[in-house]
Amino acid sequence: MTSLSAEPSAPGGPVPGAGPVLLSLDGVVAGYGGGDVLKGVTFDVAEGGITCIVGPNGAGKSTLLAAVSGLLCPRLGTITFRGEELGGKSPKAILQRGIVQVPQNHSLFREMSVRENVEMGAFLVRDRKVVAERLERIASLFPIVSERAGDKAGSLSGGQQRLVEFARCLMLDPALVVLDEPSMGLDPKTLHSMFETVRLMHADGRTILLVEQNARAGLRLATHGVVLENGRVRLTGSGREVLEHPEIGALYLGGAVAPVATGS
Ligand SMILES: Nc1ncnc2c1ncn2[C@@H]1O[C@H](COP(=O)(O)OP(=O)(O)OP(=O)(O)O)[C@@H](O)[C@H]1O
Ligand SMILES: [Mg+2]
Repeated sequence: MTSLSAEPSAPGGPVPGAGPVLLSLDGVVAGYGGGDVLKGVTFDVAEGGITCIVGPNGAGKSTLLAAVSGLLCPRLGTITFRGEELGGKSPKAILQRGIVQVPQNHSLFREMSVRENVEMGAFLVRDRKVVAERLERIASLFPIVSERAGDKAGSLSGGQQRLVEFARCLMLDPALVVLDEPSMGLDPKTLHSMFETVRLMHADGRTILLVEQNARAGLRLATHGVVLENGRVRLTGSGREVLEHPEIGALYLGGAVAPVATGS
């Protein structure tokens, strides 16, 4: 496979709606058993932005998110959140710092109600009043939470379950929402409403780190794009730069996207 001569461009550049660095990965090496899946991953996630990671199956995208969530401890390199190193911290400690992940596979308790599932998202919050207030606020953002409150989560469609998973993750009032392929298995219409909901969470003040197999839609939504290939960052840039990059377009997007006139 051809490789780009360009070094990954400096992330956190002048992208509208994105602030300073919230999360920073520097030379992260991580894997399972004897092998390394991530072979020195370096990029930043800008506060207030939507960073979308794209790349082929097996590139290490979910592994990278596992390292960010503390499920996998990097062998080398550092992961820093708000200036604090996360390496070696437990998943619970990382949740408490405001990083919450919605995993690639559906993760609701199917036999429990929608409301119970969402409430469980606040399992680290002891104050019941705070839990009730958050539930009320989140139900206003996600109508399905009140409309289907008493229904078993397992009775919802895949797209509806995704929305409830999003609602659940907001119960911890996260600063960084990490989404692993949220569009997986959704039909085009549901896909659209799922992406709109990601926009809604972003507008609600969350920084988003998104892995997306639907690379074109993910990068369109994103302020920043990262291309991960075989455990290495191949390219970073604004979402639009990655989307319009001729080689990346040819490899992952079924053809390059023509540059769009600025101001659109
Ligand atoms: N728990 C695990 N134990 C051992 N190897 C694993 C484990 N999880 C993933 N791997 C391996 O690590 C590599 C990267 O997997 P990963 O799930 O991170 O890729 P991905 O980019 O998320 O792919 P996809 O687009 O298919 O979700 C693969 O070779 C995979 O087989
Ligand atoms: Mg994956």
